[in-house]
Amino acid sequence: MCGIIGYIGQENVYPILIQGLQRLEYRGYDSAGIAILNGSLKVFKCKGRVSDLEQHVKDEDISGTIGIGHTRWATHGEPNDRNAHPHTSMNGKFVLVHNGIIENHTELKTDLMKNGFRFQSETDTEVLVNLIEYFYSKGEAIDGEMAIRLALSKVVGAYGIAVICTKEKDQLIVARKGSPLVIGVGEGSYFIASDASPIIPYTRNMIYLNDNDVAIINRQGLILKTVENIPAVFNITKVSMTIGEIEKGDFDHFMLKEIFEQPKIIEETFRGRITSDHSTIILGGLMDVFPKLLSAQRIIIIGCGTSWHAALVGEYLIETYARIPVEVEYASEFRYRNPILTNTDVVIAISQSGETADTLAAIRMAKANGATVLGICNVVGSTIARETEGGVFTHAGIEIGVASTKAFTAQVTVLTLLALKLAKENEKMTQETYQCLIQELINVPAKVQSILQKHLHIKEVASKYKKATNALYLGRGLLFPVALEGALKLKEISYLHAEGYAAGEMKHGPIALVDDNLPVVVVAARDDYYTKIVSNIHEVKARKGNIIAVVTEGDNNLNSLVNDLFEIPESHPIVTPILAIIPLQLFSYYIAVSRGCNVDQPRNLAKSVTVE
Ligand code: AGP
Ligand code: GLU
Repeated sequence: MCGIIGYIGQENVYPILIQGLQRLEYRGYDSAGIAILNGSLKVFKCKGRVSDLEQHVKDEDISGTIGIGHTRWATHGEPNDRNAHPHTSMNGKFVLVHNGIIENHTELKTDLMKNGFRFQSETDTEVLVNLIEYFYSKGEAIDGEMAIRLALSKVVGAYGIAVICTKEKDQLIVARKGSPLVIGVGEGSYFIASDASPIIPYTRNMIYLNDNDVAIINRQGLILKTVENIPAVFNITKVSMTIGEIEKGDFDHFMLKEIFEQPKIIEETFRGRITSDHSTIILGGLMDVFPKLLSAQRIIIIGCGTSWHAALVGEYLIETYARIPVEVEYASEFRYRNPILTNTDVVIAISQSGETADTLAAIRMAKANGATVLGICNVVGSTIARETEGGVFTHAGIEIGVASTKAFTAQVTVLTLLALKLAKENEKMTQETYQCLIQELINVPAKVQSILQKHLHIKEVASKYKKATNALYLGRGLLFPVALEGALKLKEISYLHAEGYAAGEMKHGPIALVDDNLPVVVVAARDDYYTKIVSNIHEVKARKGNIIAVVTEGDNNLNSLVNDLFEIPESHPIVTPILAIIPLQLFSYYIAVSRGCNVDQPRNLAKSVTVE
């Protein structure tokens, strides 16, 4: 939900902070700021992008070897200069950056004001930095670290923070509860960040903090303890991410790069999980819990946004092939609706970032109610990956575009592997069919590549619809979630209202929207629903809708009915969701670009929603 960066070492801190914020900007971009301690404390912050901050400091003294930075996604207080982080305590003893929400900030602020504190901003964060100063100044705390721990013990909510105490010059203190923080271990230097990407250029040795951790860092070393002052242990993980993965390369946008990476990442996601003779699927991360999956009374798949759409595909796949009951829940609903859960339930959380607050809270609730909880995540070391009892990593590599693309196809690839393995182990599928469908999956990367090669045709069709104000996306069966995902892509990067709908439901209301101004995207690949979806196309045509259809190559049935069409290679329906989303990703990308939208960092959004 925001990006935090920090450094303590021998090098000039400013370039480390600024480059780090540029790499983290996809996590939130309402405002940006840095604090550098070099004898005195210097804080520079402003509304807008990191590039605006660079302009803001260009004539300033930014020397120093210790500092923190923040790029914000506002939760409390509008995006402006005053509400930008870092926030300094009233008497300047502490400066802090924060990711998360201090839920009891109102009560805390009232008490602090009774104790003489005055505030500059409307943020919850400023309450925390003043609460720290309160404990420090009141004499209850013998040092900054204790003041921070005392303050955090009063906090209800989520935080990832980096704090500098201006009276204790050579020290950075970081802490997390609910919002991610990772420490990079350099040579006599330490980096801290919301994720590993900005640290990779300097070190691959990472320490992923756990909830309730507090780390006291100076140039000589690091001490880890809990908020309750109990010593904690840490492990150093060597991450494999490369700098190339966090650069755009020859692409105009990260989103386009990530769309074109999909043949590779789909192959990476099933690589090592299908035996060399293509006869068996191996999901090592589920080995210990597989019997629970097979005997589950019910599998509940939870997620948000695109991950929720992948969950819907998973429901159709697992129920169709493995005949195990599946339910799909929005994590943001599931966490609060007091669902009936038993120890015969298996909950699978899908999350690209592994940090989505609603999904994290939902799995914690499910675990507390006795369910077995598994994860399908893209970020190794992420909180959800660490808090689930088993799972399967998507191997999509870091996804920087806020609109999720390659993570979705990687998630669906994992769900297809899982559905096939469950079907076979549940004796709902012959070995022959099993191997045939495994081969279908193996053939997907080349088929995706062939669709990508038609990107100029998709770009041309997109140019016809760039002035549209609404769109309807229709699909049935396994392609209904694809319609939902296609609509989400369009609305989140082009700000054009798009609605995904089950095609069979259209006649129960949305058909009233259809006229000769309305683009209607219909996912009509050859499958068991084909004749039904063709009827729906006729219904739209009869009302002069402009139809853009995703069809199977060689299907000329619809040429006279549709205005435009995107062809995907012939395939078994089990892999059609992965193929059918590709043209819709590109369609939304090209419309957004033609509308001058910021494709990688759409307004109001952030890549990882670590607050609710
Ligand atoms: C997808 O394009 C969106 N950016 C958003 O809906 C995203 O899928 C959702 O926030 C869930 O994120 P997660 O997969 O990291 O949990
Ligand atoms: N709640 C804090 C604010 O609104 C932090 C938001 C964030 O995580 O970026 O400033």
